[in-house]
Amino acid sequence: MRDLDELFEAAKAARARAYAPYSNFPVGAALRSAGGAIHAGCNVENAAYPTGSCAEANAIAAMVIAGDSRIIDIAVIGAGAEPVTPCGACRQRIHEFATAETRIHLSDGRGVRKFYFMADLLPHAFGPENLAPDRNAAENTP
Ligand code: THU
Repeated sequence: MRDLDELFEAAKAARARAYAPYSNFPVGAALRSAGGAIHAGCNVENAAYPTGSCAEANAIAAMVIAGDSRIIDIAVIGAGAEPVTPCGACRQRIHEFATAETRIHLSDGRGVRKFYFMADLLPHAFGPENLAPDRNAAENTP
């Protein structure tokens, strides 16, 4: 699928830019938003370790800066032959801009790909709908 090839190419190009001198584990992420554009990010580590950021977080930031807010597909590619699934915090970050049908694509580095739906990677998630004012108003009314 050409669209998916393009997404993985963008994730690979982002991974090549990763700043991961502490873990030596470069990660690239590329997402296609509802607007059709691709936004990519790499992990950016820091000498103060917890300050580092994940590839997915930076791809999402690029999407938001571009004015998009809905993720249709996201590809994540790490180092080595094992596919990398987004960490727990990144699942939550992706969920914020996803639907249940958003696909999270992985590659094992040998060309074997698979994908998971958002709802399978983060079931029963807490999300923006939980904070919708009308919903909360109704439930909090004594
Ligand atoms: N990392 C990501 O960028 N995304 C993930 O989903 C998993 C982990 C990064 C964080 C850190 O820079 C390195 O991989 C090792 O954990």
